[in-house]
Amino acid sequence: MSLSRTATTFPPPVMEARRWLDGVTHPADRPLLNVSQAAPVDPPPAAMREAMAEIVIDDPAAHLYGPVLGLPELRAEVAKQWTASYGGDVTADQVAITSGCNQAFAASIATLCGEGDEVIIPVPYYFNHRMWLDMSGVKTVALTTGEGMIPDADDAAKLITPRTRAIALVSPNNPCGVEYPAATLHAFFELARAHGIALIVDETYRDFDSRSGAPHDLFTDPAWDDTLIQLYSFSKAYRLTGHRVGAVIASEARLAEIEKFLDTVTICPNQLGQRAALWGMQNLTQWLAGEREEILDRRAAIHDHFHLLADKGWKLLGCGAYFAYVQHPFDMSSADLAPLLVKEAGVLLLPGTMFMPEDVPGGERQLRIAFANIDSSGVAMLFDRLASLSL
Ligand SMILES: Cc1ncc(COP(=O)(O)O)c(C=O)c1O
Repeated sequence: MSLSRTATTFPPPVMEARRWLDGVTHPADRPLLNVSQAAPVDPPPAAMREAMAEIVIDDPAAHLYGPVLGLPELRAEVAKQWTASYGGDVTADQVAITSGCNQAFAASIATLCGEGDEVIIPVPYYFNHRMWLDMSGVKTVALTTGEGMIPDADDAAKLITPRTRAIALVSPNNPCGVEYPAATLHAFFELARAHGIALIVDETYRDFDSRSGAPHDLFTDPAWDDTLIQLYSFSKAYRLTGHRVGAVIASEARLAEIEKFLDTVTICPNQLGQRAALWGMQNLTQWLAGEREEILDRRAAIHDHFHLLADKGWKLLGCGAYFAYVQHPFDMSSADLAPLLVKEAGVLLLPGTMFMPEDVPGGERQLRIAFANIDSSGVAMLFDRLASLSL
C-alpha cells in the first residue's frame, strides 16, 4: 500500500512549537517573548476595518461566489501597481488572486509538476514549500547557501536534471531575512529560461524590503512570463492574515491551468478579503510606508543589540524582512534547544532544523527569530535573556 499524500510530510512546525508552551508558566516579571511566527498580531488599521464593515453591509456580492481567478478590479490594481513599481509590463490577465500566498505556491506547483518531478529550493527553506512538494510527490532538491545565505545560480545549475521543473526562491527570505540581490535573481531567471523550467519567486515580504526601488528587473523582460511565476501575499502588508488573500503573477496560459486548481479547491478567493486588499492598495500607501519604517527600525535594533549575543559566541547569519537567522554557541541541536528556551528563557522561536531536510547539516546550530512583533526594547530584552543562558 502506498502512503497517503499527507503521510509523506511532517506536521506543521508552528503548531508543534506552540505545544512546547503547554504546562509552562511564565513569571510576571519575565513574560513570554514569542518570536516564533511571522505574522502581524494586530488587526488591520481602523480605517480599513470600517471600510470592510461597510462592504459587509452594503455590497451583496461580497457574500457570494466570485470569479475563480479573483476580483477583476483587484487583478487590475495589482497589474497597475506592479507595472509602475517593477518597471515592466504586467496586465490584469497575468494576475490571479488566490486564497493566500501558500495557495498560490500550491497551485503553481500543481501546474508544473507530476509525480517524481523535482523542484530546486535553497536551504534553509520555507517549510510550507517543502511540505507541499512532499504532498505532491515532488522531490525537493536542496540548494545549499553559503556565507550570506544567498543562493548561487551556478550551484543550482549543477542540480538540474531532466526531471527538474522549477526553482523556487523567497526574497526577502523566510527564514533568513536576506534580500536577494537583483543580479542573483537575474542569474536564476536566465538559468531557468535556458533550461525551459520555471522560476518561482515568492515576494511575500516585498513591502518590507530595505532597498528603494524595484528589487529586481525580471518584469522588464518583454517575455518575462515564459519563465517567471511571482507570488505575493496581502497577509503581511495589510494585516489580513485571517482573510486569506494572495496573488500569483504569471502567463495567461499558466493562469488558465491554475484556474482548474483553484476552482476545485476554493472556487473563489474570500470576497471580503479581496475587497479589503483592493481598498488597502488604493488607500494605505502612506500607512504601509510607515509600517515598513517600523520594521526597518526593528531590524536596525537587531543589529544594534547583537553585540550582546556576539560576545557569547552567537553569530548573525541573516537579517531583514521579519527575520533574524542566527547561529547559537551551545553544544546541542537547535531541535532540543528551542523547547528548552521556553522554560529557561521564556522565549519561543523556531529551530533551524525545521527549515532543513534531515540530511543537510547546519540547521542544528541555527535558530530563526521572527522579530516583527517586538520593538527595540523587546529586542534588547530578548538578547539579554539569550545572552545570560548557561546551558
Ligand atoms: C515566504 C512565505 N510565503 C507564503 C506565506 C503565507 O502567506 P499567506 O498568508 O498569504 O498564505 C508566508 C507566511 O509566513 C511566507 O513566509
